[in-house]
Amino acid sequence: MSKGKILLTGAAGYIGSHTWVELCQAGYDVVGVDNFYNSERDVVERISKILGHEVMFEEADCSDIQAFGKVFAKHSDIVGAVHFAACKAVGESIDKPLLYYRNNIVSLLNLITLMTEKGKKANIVFSSSCTVYGQPDKEHLPIAENAPLKRSLSPYGKSKQMAEEILSDSVIAYPNLKVCALRYFNPIGAHPSALIGELPRGVPQNLVPFVTQTAAGIRDHLSVFGDDYNTPDGSCIRDYIYVVDLAKAHVKAIDKLLGDDANAPVAIDEPTYVEAAKTGRWSVYNLGTGKGLSVLELVHGFMKATGVDLPYQIAPRRQGDIEQVWADPRKAERELGWRADTPIEEVLLSAWNWQKTL
Ligand code: NAD
Ligand code: WQD
Repeated sequence: MSKGKILLTGAAGYIGSHTWVELCQAGYDVVGVDNFYNSERDVVERISKILGHEVMFEEADCSDIQAFGKVFAKHSDIVGAVHFAACKAVGESIDKPLLYYRNNIVSLLNLITLMTEKGKKANIVFSSSCTVYGQPDKEHLPIAENAPLKRSLSPYGKSKQMAEEILSDSVIAYPNLKVCALRYFNPIGAHPSALIGELPRGVPQNLVPFVTQTAAGIRDHLSVFGDDYNTPDGSCIRDYIYVVDLAKAHVKAIDKLLGDDANAPVAIDEPTYVEAAKTGRWSVYNLGTGKGLSVLELVHGFMKATGVDLPYQIAPRRQGDIEQVWADPRKAERELGWRADTPIEEVLLSAWNWQKTL
């Protein structure tokens, strides 16, 4: 028996596609929505191939309330939504701020409107990002959910900060709304089937797609941006999380939102959203491994895991990069019963296996 119908926006994207698989395998019916702004149409067939059955999909732009509204009219039995649909390139957002604010904010406003307007229970899991913390002070590492949010430097980061504000204000205003905001650290890797994975357009900006493309000979060498940071080997430190582990956290978040019927009193440990937290219908979780890995450690880890040589050169620092950030994921472990535990070698090998199919 189905555990209920979940709407996934941005379902054909990198994290959305992996979450689609995990939600279906956990017993949910999923209706995927995407406008293929940053994904390929055949992802839908690939999901169906992994699952071994047909899937429900609606092509729509979430920033167009008419088109998005039709999805709700057709699937009036939706019991929850996971909202991935957004533009996500930090650099591009500096050049095209209006694109980012329009797409990321309007899509979210439409989702909240359509979910809450009939007065039915509205459960939303939101894709937030560790970018909301900005450059954390050393005393806040590993970074927990109650760390201060610093003003983001990019429109992308600001759109995530604004989205959290909008959602937390909406929780206060709409008693039928419950929200779980998930702050992802650095998602990497691909599904073990190698049927879905990350599909960067053009030259990849993120480390792992650049690594796999370099290993495949598409790029000449990897530039390691900076080896003079105040870290053990001088390169930047991040918390790289396997996308399948990340996808599984969404299942736990949906389980929690649907399961927690009484608005259980919660410990108010989020100084940023105290009023929303008091409702018992607002929660925020860091999704990371709890372990920081440097760029150079990742590069050498990749060579060890795959046996493939990776030419790299030390290059100047990349403007705007944060020196080091990794998660304190204990709240998610405590309250969602979730932990990211796939070994990094396996994760890097999955990224390579996916690259080889492209
Ligand atoms: P992605 O670009 O692969 O997926 C996003 C999907 O949303 C794409 O398929 C795109 O076509 C779709 N989309 C965009 N605008 C849409 C709209 N208006 N209507 C319908 N579909 C639309 O990105 P991803 O890496 O899977 O990221 C998913 C979410 O997670 C985003 O909200 C992103 O900001 C967030 N996030 C990503 C990372 C990361 O490093 N990948 C880290 C933190 C947070
Ligand atoms: C990781 C490390 C680079 C490429 C971004 C967004 C953030 C979040 C996650 C969405 C850094 C180094 C990279 C290369 C390199 N996304 N690097 N050579 O910058 O941590 O975060 O993705 O919410 O908001 O900013 O990820 O993969 O770009 O970089 O040396 O060719 O790899 O300097 O230290 P980042 P990244």
